[in-house]
Amino acid sequence: MKIRIMMTEDIEAATDLQQRVYSAIPPFTQQQFESLLDHFPQGQFVAELDGKIVGLAVSLVIMWDDYSLHHTWNSVTNNGYFDTHDMSGRTLYGAEVCVDPAVRHHGVGHGLYEARRKLCRAMNLKRIIAGGRLPGYHKVAERMLPEEYAKRVVWGEIYDPVLRFQLGEGFNYCGILKGYLPADDDSLGNAALIVWLNPDFDADRPTVLPTTKLLQEGI
Ligand SMILES: CC(C)(COP(=O)(O)OP(=O)(O)OC[C@H]1O[C@@H](n2cnc3c(N)ncnc32)[C@H](O)[C@@H]1OP(=O)(O)O)[C@@H](O)C(=O)NCCC(=O)NCCS
Repeated sequence: MKIRIMMTEDIEAATDLQQRVYSAIPPFTQQQFESLLDHFPQGQFVAELDGKIVGLAVSLVIMWDDYSLHHTWNSVTNNGYFDTHDMSGRTLYGAEVCVDPAVRHHGVGHGLYEARRKLCRAMNLKRIIAGGRLPGYHKVAERMLPEEYAKRVVWGEIYDPVLRFQLGEGFNYCGILKGYLPADDDSLGNAALIVWLNPDFDADRPTVLPTTKLLQEGI
């Protein structure tokens, strides 16, 4: 399995992948992918296995103070066009990660998260923040609020394939984002706000934008 920077030629395969992964959430459009690659080519990774795209991780840089606890996926990405990417911010925002259902639980997600952490370090950004889906929540929604669901995942009583994975990747759970992604039926629109702090962040040093070539060599 190889993790590499996403290229325009990967758009069709990335769209197919999102279609295989999500039943209710529509894939990015060609225009949205193009806009993403235009704004921040350094932040987009794919996982390739035997020449096939089996994973995707989409990120942008944001000014976290502009969003905080009350943001939605649409507000942070400007409806998936990613022109909210702002290099004066010091937060890497994870806007999408998905792995082909056929190859899950083999470390592809870990590889994509590792690539993101490397990017965060290489850029001297302070942290990675994301709104994580809670795909198991709909099964228990009649019995508990999403806050209780997430806490039970954190203390190990409920298994959620996304939040459990993210906690295992060293992220901290910071609360529930309500109405984050209304199309996400499984999570009933909710998401978990998660954060990973870059231990190497140096506030006195500026943000560094690595070349895609350098990143390709370093992943
Ligand atoms: C979340 C997601 C990206 C994880 O991808 P993945 O490739 O399965 O991730 P990994 O294989 O690295 O880790 C998943 C689990 O497999 C385990 N695992 C990894 N390699 C393994 C191996 N070789 N043998 C056994 N288990 C392994 C991990 O420890 C992890 O366990 P956990 O769930 O108890 O934490 C994937 O489930 C997915 O695409 N979900 C749908 C899309 C989605 O909701 N994305 C999140 C948007 S916020």
